[in-house]
Amino acid sequence: MKRTGNGTTQNRALLAWVEKMAALCSPEAIHWCDGSEAEAAALSDQMVKAGTFLRLNPEKRPNSFLCRSDPRDVARVEGRTFICSNNPDDAGPNNNWSPPKEMKAKLNELFSGCMRGRTMYVVPFSMGPIGSKIAHVGVEISDSPYVVVNMRIMTRMGQAVLDALGEAGEFIPCMHSVGAPLAPGEADVAWPCDPENRYITHFPETREIWSYGSGYGGNALLGKKCFALRIASVMARDEGWLAEHMLIAGIERPDGEKTYVGAAFPSACGKTNLAMLVPPEGYEGWRFWTVGDDIAWIKPDESGVLRAINPEAGFFGVAPGTNEETNPNAMASLRGNCIFTNVALTDDGDVWWEGMTPEKPAHLIDWLGQDWTPASSTPAAHPNARFTAPITQCPSYDPAWEDPAGVPISAFIFGGRMRHTTPLVFQAFNWSHGVYLAATMGSEKTAAAEGQAAMRRDPMAMLPFCGYNMGDYFTHWLNVGRRVPNPPRIFRVNWFRRDEEGRFLWPGFGQNLRVLEWILNRVHGRGSAIESPLGWMPRYADMRWDGLDFSEGRFEELMTVDKDEVRSLELRDDLLDQFFDRLPKEFVYERQLLRSRLWRSPDHWRPARK
Ligand code: GTP
Ligand code: SPV
Ligand code: MN
Repeated sequence: MKRTGNGTTQNRALLAWVEKMAALCSPEAIHWCDGSEAEAAALSDQMVKAGTFLRLNPEKRPNSFLCRSDPRDVARVEGRTFICSNNPDDAGPNNNWSPPKEMKAKLNELFSGCMRGRTMYVVPFSMGPIGSKIAHVGVEISDSPYVVVNMRIMTRMGQAVLDALGEAGEFIPCMHSVGAPLAPGEADVAWPCDPENRYITHFPETREIWSYGSGYGGNALLGKKCFALRIASVMARDEGWLAEHMLIAGIERPDGEKTYVGAAFPSACGKTNLAMLVPPEGYEGWRFWTVGDDIAWIKPDESGVLRAINPEAGFFGVAPGTNEETNPNAMASLRGNCIFTNVALTDDGDVWWEGMTPEKPAHLIDWLGQDWTPASSTPAAHPNARFTAPITQCPSYDPAWEDPAGVPISAFIFGGRMRHTTPLVFQAFNWSHGVYLAATMGSEKTAAAEGQAAMRRDPMAMLPFCGYNMGDYFTHWLNVGRRVPNPPRIFRVNWFRRDEEGRFLWPGFGQNLRVLEWILNRVHGRGSAIESPLGWMPRYADMRWDGLDFSEGRFEELMTVDKDEVRSLELRDDLLDQFFDRLPKEFVYERQLLRSRLWRSPDHWRPARK
């Protein structure tokens, strides 16, 4: 079989696995990736020729490409995502489950000959700094060059990883195919996929990933959700650490105090924005540092400090809504060397998406490749259009991203997208209350996943990403906090509460630093707060308002705890009850305590005026 690429390895297990997979998939060639610039350039050129990539105007967006996916393959497919543990109880009630043997049989059938007429790429990658004690290695086999060039931005990919693996190093095998073999002479399409037969499967006991039929995002870039969350969460449970759907950011005060936080929000709910926040007016001298925007691996060090790394090396961020006002650091990160998927094309060869500029361009080619004008009734970019950009291009990039020891986490922040009920910010009374608050958070539907309910509970923003029974996951969280001397303080936030006219009550984005400052004060024992039925809350005077005209009346609206609303939302038992036999007892008591506090509370609790 033809062999291309300059990647070389002596790793016995890897060589054997690649040989076995080649025999199964019957590719035309095997390409061992070395991760070099030249390799990426050649693959990009090849995709331009094939019509998969469109080179953007080098004067506007150097070394950048637009890619339009098959309209049937635009987001993660939770309905086609499986956890194949031996025992269904280990997958839990919220995951799709299939017996490993059955799924393997199906996969063997699907993968058999699935790469005919295509090249099989071997993509070695490290999640985290190569050699870090917190990092882990994976190897993805894929027949998609789009996956290769994305993985090169999203992970540390190439020869350095093969070198680190050596002859006997361990790796997580990640098997991927778009599921579109080519008959001899058959012409390829721009975005091959098999939407009818998608399977995103995980084998937690043997720590393997097999993904078939989709080329998009988390379905296909297997280092991301499949490895760094679903498989890693199982590893973390077994080894006493945390793999979370969290951004990591450092906040530095003018006096030099620098504090790191981890913050979990469901997909398309503001992690990227919060990860690269620009301090607003009134915060002169403050600095904000970006370590990660989507995933955190957090391990206790010898002294019991929880230290986090970002296992990724790039952003796979939501494009719509990103602009110079809401996220200037993201816009700066996109200046070149990026891949844009399902955005619109401008007449001068640049990209555009809804919300990028106040004025819509007079003419575009939309994400489906059709002419588009502001009169069109459909959006120009798909709502889940994404950019792939290297983290090092972000102006707020924190060099600590490279630190193999990770950064110390002082607070965990959890937030959903809630129009009603949930106040701007509150702090848990203690660790077990915090874990309960994180487990009971809810969020409204976004475009990041297909077929998701209008509002759902999304514990720790991990519902689609926990590779085992979430009842056990809650217990694991409780244990992690118990084992360390000074666990991070836990907070809930909600940037998305609306007034009666449907407008956001809170300006959000850079202004979120005001909430973070109160959080830091609480962490460092400085800030005052008042006890609400939900947790500790700031009063108006407990937050800094310099540079923002925000009235005390509006603040009270934002912070109101409406007893009936909270009762019907926070005490709704639908999700937690599914875990009844594995639910930590702490949660039963926390629920009763909340019930009791609500019982004593006025109908509309508000932080008292000073
Ligand atoms: P994944 O990459 O899917 O995991 O999501 P993410 O959490 O990184 O999502 P992202 O930051 O890209 O969220 C994008 C959406 O959140 C856009 O619609 C933003 O306009 C909106 N958003 C982010 N921050 C704020 C905020 O502070 N207030 C409001 N109102 N919207 C926000
Ligand atoms: C998410 O959906 O949470 C993402 C995008 O971060 S994807 O990589 O497609 O999962
Ligand atoms: Mn995500």
